[in-house]
Amino acid sequence: MEKIRVCFVCLGNICRSPTAEAVFLDLIEKEGLSDRFVVDSAGTGSWHVGERAHRDTRAEAKRRGIEVKSIARQFIGEDFARFDYVLAMDRSNHANLLRIAPEDQENKLHLFRTFDPDSEVGAEVPDPYYEGGFPKVYDICEAAARGFLNHVKSAHGF
Ligand code: 4NP
Repeated sequence: MEKIRVCFVCLGNICRSPTAEAVFLDLIEKEGLSDRFVVDSAGTGSWHVGERAHRDTRAEAKRRGIEVKSIARQFIGEDFARFDYVLAMDRSNHANLLRIAPEDQENKLHLFRTFDPDSEVGAEVPDPYYEGGFPKVYDICEAAARGFLNHVKSAHGF
């Protein structure tokens, strides 16, 4: 069966998108759906390429009982061809991604929180890098990941 390929994208790929990736991986594992997906994360920026996730990102995830394993990498335009869903954490990430998206693949790009039925239109995952708020980021990612999985289940009929 064809796998559904998902990439979570933020700016640095060390705080928000690694959290979203780890939360989603945990969710699909608990639902026995791991083999239906390929899951990745990346950043639009290159500053942190090769680094593990931020220590507060890893600490918050550990508190919730999951591990963040991702190593930062930069998202490039060619990545659009490799994924079915490219999920931007905020509107700035979305705009940056739209700029590098091949025109025929723009439909793969979504603002992540769009899939959370309890969030407002245009809602973002706030950047915790300077201001903190890692627990809140985790909560937001959990709700959006749940909503995204529900969307995929109905859109792909499982
Ligand atoms: P992230 O957070 O996009 O959630 O990974 C950031 C990480 C690093 C920087 C900005 C945001 N930075 O400017 O280096």
